[in-house]
This record gives sequence, structure tokens and C-alpha cells, in this order.
Amino acid sequence: EVMEELMGTQLKEKKLAEYFNVERCIVVAGDSDQESKVLENFGTELTKALLEVLPQGENIVAVMGGTTMASVAEHLSNLEKPNRHNIFVPARGGIGESVSIQSNSISAMMAMKSGGSYRALYVPEQVSSETYKSLLQEPSVQQVLDLIQEANCVIHSIGRALHMAARRGMTPEQLAMLKQRKAVAESFGYFFDENGEVVYKIPRIGLQLEDLKHIACIFAIAGGKSKAKAIHSYMKNAPTQTWLITDEGATDQILKGV
Ligand code: G3H
Repeated sequence: EVMEELMGTQLKEKKLAEYFNVERCIVVAGDSDQESKVLENFGTELTKALLEVLPQGENIVAVMGGTTMASVAEHLSNLEKPNRHNIFVPARGGIGESVSIQSNSISAMMAMKSGGSYRALYVPEQVSSETYKSLLQEPSVQQVLDLIQEANCVIHSIGRALHMAARRGMTPEQLAMLKQRKAVAESFGYFFDENGEVVYKIPRIGLQLEDLKHIACIFAIAGGKSKAKAIHSYMKNAPTQTWLITDEGATDQILKGV
């Protein structure tokens, strides 16, 4: 029976990867909407995947925020090897999340759990554009921005557009605009419609969507039946080197046709 289940999952992984035309999909049993254990398993799967794909030498791993990423970070384990060191950095400047799920906190947690190091990007959001511009001139900020530009691995989640817009405190006008443009998914401050086209972008420093094309390892981690549409939307145009780590809840819904 265990064998049968395993075959079932492997088949789903293959189907899903073919459907999205991406390198690999990893499907965890269960539905993260229902069981928090599934989110923990995302962390275990990510650890295995990173051990497999991260090259020797110094890696720069850029990470995004959110509740999925926070749980994944807590369940990451040792990734250091004598000939390999990982530096975690936030991928983009803050996009309105609360502290515990901000990318700065998540990169620190990932470094702690995996034995790597991290660098924080201290750029507050509510500052005038002059202050912002002068902050960007600060060598400590510039150094981290340079590291982000050199990232060879990116780890991010995918969220539901309107849910994320509300959580990030966007205005009622912006929410109406997103509805009108039929935004379905959000990932690192970009909003996508059901065809995976960008319909809005929160302007922030750091990694931009176009930059992903040139990054060797990309992990998108999101699950739950409730996120099936959002995952479908983002993954449609995701770079082909992306690995999707998801669960059966989302996978079954996607393969049925969302
Ligand atoms: O960009 C996507 C969001 O970070 C996903 O957030 O993991 O809390 O659903 P979440």
C-alpha cells in the first residue's frame, strides 16, 4: 500500500512538472490548509532539495517573506559542508509584512537553522523619497544590494492576490484596481492574472522578476487547496528552472483543472 501511495505521488509530481513545464515538482502528502505538519514537511523537502542542488563554494540565497516561508525556515536543517557555505539575504525590500514574517527575519532564521550566515537589508518603508535615496547610498545597504544581485538561489512563496494586498495594507483604491485587473496571485510584490501575466508591481529595491531568468536555482513553495488558483497562475509563466514544492491539496485541484 505504501508503494502504491508512493507511485501515486511520483506520478502526480511528474504530471505537475510537465503541466507547468518546470524542472521539478515535489508533492507533499496532505493539505496544508488542514494540517500544519504539511508546512513542516515543506521545510524537510527544501532541505533535501538544497543539499542536492546547491553548488560547492559560496552560495547567495535570496529569500522572500510570508507565513509559508516562516514555517519552512523553522524546519530547515544543516546545509553546511566543508566546501560549501551559504549566505542568506532578503530578496527585496520590505513589502508591508509584520516583523516575524518579513524576509529579513526569515533569512536570519534560515541561516540559523542551516548553519549559514545572513545579511539584513535595513530599508524602512515609510520614509520620504529623499531619505530613501540617501539610504540607498549607505555602504552597508549598498553591500547587501550587491549581494542580492549576485544571488544564485531564490526561495519564495506564492499567495492569493487580494488576500496578500489586504495583508500588506494596500489602499481600497489599489484593491479595486487589482480586482479590476483580475489579479489572482502574488509573489515577491508582483501581482499576476490567471494567465500568469503581471498586472501590478509594488516598486521595491532588490531582486526583480526579470532577474529570476538568470538565477540557477529557484524554489517556489506553496500549498493548500485554497491556493490552487494562485499557484496555477504564477507557475504558468514561472522560469523553467523553478522547482515547485507543494502539497496534494493544491496538486489535485490543479490537475483536475482549477
Ligand atoms: O508572496 C507570497 C506570500 O508571501 C505568501 O504568503 O505564505 O503567508 O501565504 P503566505
